[in-house]
Formats: sequence, structure tokens, C-alpha cells
Amino acid sequence: MVPLKRRKLLSTQTGNNGNSGTDVIGVKAPVKFPDVVIFLLERKMGASRRAFLSQLAAKNGFHVQETFSGMVTHVVSEGNSGAEVGSWLDSQTDGSAHRPVHLLDMSWFTQSMKAGRPIDITDTHRLQVDESEVEVFSVPSFACQRRTTLENHNTVLTDALSLLAEMAELSAEEGRGVAFRRACAVLKCLNEPVTAMSQLRGLPCLGEHSLRVIQDILENGASSEAESTKCSERFKALKLLTGVFGVGCKTADRWIREGILSLQQLTDSAHSLNRAQQAGVDHYDDLNQPVTKAEADSISVIVEKALVTVLPGATMTLIGGFRRGKQTGHDVDFLITHPEEGAEVGLMPRVVSWLQSKGFLLYQKTTRNSYLEAKDGPARPASNMDRFERCFSIFKLDKQGPGLQSHTQRATDGEGSHFGDAVDSVCEPENGQIKQWRAVRVDLVVSPISQFPFALLGWTGSKLFERELRRWAGHEKSMSLSSHALYDSTQRTYLRATSEEEIFTHLGLEFIPPSERNA
Ligand code: UTP
Ligand code: MN
Repeated sequence: MVPLKRRKLLSTQTGNNGNSGTDVIGVKAPVKFPDVVIFLLERKMGASRRAFLSQLAAKNGFHVQETFSGMVTHVVSEGNSGAEVGSWLDSQTDGSAHRPVHLLDMSWFTQSMKAGRPIDITDTHRLQVDESEVEVFSVPSFACQRRTTLENHNTVLTDALSLLAEMAELSAEEGRGVAFRRACAVLKCLNEPVTAMSQLRGLPCLGEHSLRVIQDILENGASSEAESTKCSERFKALKLLTGVFGVGCKTADRWIREGILSLQQLTDSAHSLNRAQQAGVDHYDDLNQPVTKAEADSISVIVEKALVTVLPGATMTLIGGFRRGKQTGHDVDFLITHPEEGAEVGLMPRVVSWLQSKGFLLYQKTTRNSYLEAKDGPARPASNMDRFERCFSIFKLDKQGPGLQSHTQRATDGEGSHFGDAVDSVCEPENGQIKQWRAVRVDLVVSPISQFPFALLGWTGSKLFERELRRWAGHEKSMSLSSHALYDSTQRTYLRATSEEEIFTHLGLEFIPPSERNA
């Protein structure tokens, strides 16, 4: 596939890919050498020099084509490597290049002009296609056009770039963060490890800074910038403090400026924590330990049980990273709906109070559904904030695993609220006894069935994949995509969908299954 950017760049000089190109317009003699059809590559040569040389050749009876076509026999370029021209040629022929075409340096052209005829091609005229440069990667520019599995062949590079992205995000520099995330995502979808900078030519989203980081790693085995960031006091403190549930980078930054660099300093300080942050401190270790798929499945069983009890017919889907096939996550995300539109109204408070009554919740905060479909389209700029009924919670998960012995027992024993017990049992291991449960972050989202495919797509992630979907919708399709709806600004209408596949079709994208959305 051809990177979009490059296609745009080249489109000024390559009007068509058909079998006949456009000849150079201007003064010219009759074609004297019908077997030779020249195409001058504008890249690095520049438009005016190209026009001058074209006229010169035409005057001398050479056949020069203005646009590239299947008739071209000699591609002449200046200052480009064989790999560069080769990958350009691939882009012209959709990569199907069997190449009857000669890729030539300017020396062949000037000597031929001097001789007044096409001279014999020697090795000095031929662009050298260095073997190490042959494996040039080529990917489309939007992450939502690419298939990114969890198999990553460039973890050293992506770890470094992710770390720099994280530091940018923790410093509230969103633009920088996104740039690193995009670069990282491009490397994640390559099917082989990168071994030389020359392989990256023509890849989208690799800015100067990211390229510098990559080069450092290829040459020295590690990125000095990533290493020094990782070791910096500021990074460590930001990570530690934002690791507290309910603490964002702004709050962390304020605390650091007050000299708070550790949890001990935080609890010793006079700061009053809000309810979320207090829960975050209480369950710090648990919440910073990855959630396993087995734990996610255990929680599924509990949520399923709640639904069956409070609204039979309601369904839930595991979303987020686990739907993409990840084996661990920072939380567990569920999307709940009911096949009958409207039946889901008021569902969340009932689910939550059931969970509370059985002692499964250590913390919860529910927000109400505030989504209203505006007739004249969504507000601009298209908000990526969800307005679903949503519950941010911390579950108390029995460590006994899928059996969940003690909780299932309580869930069915018909007794009243155990919520108090649960909160009171926030305790450290006593007398060498190991704690029998652990705290797990769980996000519950309720969607009406009419918005379900949009919610499913929007909540499956990855975050970058979602961002790129919205960017694609806006930039390429003049549409606005959210987790609630897809609006076509040109037709001034909402596009309905009953499946994720239909949304991809509306967007003019190939369907990418969840397991390949790990951008
Ligand atoms: P998560 O933050 O849970 O990410 O959001 P994740 O991919 O599951 O990663 P881990 O494994 O937990 O660390 C899941 C998806 O939900 C969307 C995000 O875009 C992400 O793709 N989301 C999350 C929203 O749309 N809105 C939110 O407020 C939060
Ligand atoms: Mn998640």
C-alpha cells in the first residue's frame, strides 16, 4: 500500500497510472527513438529543472512523458537512491512491479543529450539498489487503515517511544504525546524488526524527534533520552502520583511542586483527598498490579449475575484491551445494553446497588447519561467525551479465582448489605495472614441498543486507534465520529449502523477486527 502523504505529494506529477502518459508539451522534434520513453522524476530535481530538461530532450527527438505510465522505459532521477526510486515505482504500480523499466541516474541523460541519441546503459548509469535497502517498509498513514496485532517486532523501539509519549502526556503536552504515539504505532505494525534507518524512508508519522530516538537505539542499543527520562526524579514522581486512582497529571504536578514525591509524603501532608483519591491510596498496590484475563473473566461472572437479577435480557460485552486480545490490563471494561431501546434506562443504579449489596464494590461513582442527539449535528469540535451512563468502580475480587467461593456464596445467600463489611475489610495482612481478595478497577458503561455499535467501536480501543478513526472521519470523510453516533456533515445526516462492520463501511475503511486494533 502507498502511504497517503506520499501519494498526495506525487499526485502533482503523476496524473494517471494507465497505459498512456501525457507527452511533454512545447517545442519538439519528431520522435527519433521510439523504443525509449523517458520519465523524469521531479522528486529532488524540482519542477523547473524538470521542465527545462524535458524540453531539451524533446527538442533532440527524445520521447519524454510528463506523467508516468506503463509505456515508460527509462526513469531518470537526480539525487535519489535506488531504494527511493524503487519504492516510488512500486507506488506507481501498486507494488506489482516487475520492472522492465531502467532506473537511471542523471549521467545517462546528460551523456545521451550530448551524444544526440540514447547511449548504452552501463552500471555507472544504473541506480544501485543496495540489498540492505531493499526491505523498505510501506504503510498507510492512518492507524485505522492498518492491522496492528499484539505481535510487535520492534519492542525496544516502541518501549522507548511509549515512554517518551508517557512523559509528554504526564507533562500535559498532548501534541507531543500524540506524535510519539503515532510514531510508535507505525513501528508496531511492521512485520519485521527495523535494522537500518534507510528502511524507514517514506514511512508516515515518523517526525524528526522520533527518528532521532530510533537512530540512537539502532546505533547504540538504547535511547539516551528515554533512559534519562526513565531515571529522572520528575518522571518517577509523576508516575507514582498519577498511579493513585483519581489523580491526574495536573494534580500530580502541583503536589510535586510542593515537594511531595512519595505516597508517604502525600499521606503525611495536610492535603485532604477526595473519595476517589482516598480509595486510590488505600488500594494503591492492588490497582498498580496488572489485571489478568482470568480476573477479568471472574468479574464478568459477577456482572453477568447482577444483570440477570436486575434486568433479564440485558447483555454485557467485555471491551477495552481484553476485547483486543490482551492478556492483562489496567482495568476491566464492560459495555451493557438491552435489545429493547429504552429498557436500559435506569439500569446502572440497579446494577450498582446489587453489587454493593453483595459486597463487591470498594468504591463507585456513577455518572448519568447526558447524550442528546442534536438535529444539526454534533457540537464542534466533535467531542470525544462520552456521555453514557457510566460507573467508575473498584471491585473487591476474591483471590480464589473463577470459583469465587466466598462471594458467590454471599451473592446467593439472600442476606442484606455486605458493603460495610467490604469497606471495613480494607486491611493489611494481619498476623502473617495473606489478604484473600484484591482490588480491581472496573468501568461499566450502559448504552441504548441504537448506539451500541458506536459504543462498542469507541470503547474497544486502542486509544490511538480511536483517535485515528475520528481523525480519518473528519479529515478524509467530513464526518464526525463519537461513541454515540456518526454524522455526515456533507449530507447533514446521521448514519445509522447495527454493527461495527457497517460503521467501517460508512467510513470507507476496510473492517479491522478488534485483535488488529492494537495500534
Ligand atoms: P482503557 O483506558 O481501559 O484502555 O479504555 P485499554 O485499551 O482497555 O487499556 P488497559 O488494558 O485497560 O490498560 C478502553 C477504551 O475506552 C475508550 C478509550 O478510547 C479506549 O479505547 N474510552 C475510555 C473512552 O472512550 N472514554 C473514556 O472516558 C475512557
Ligand atoms: Mn481497559
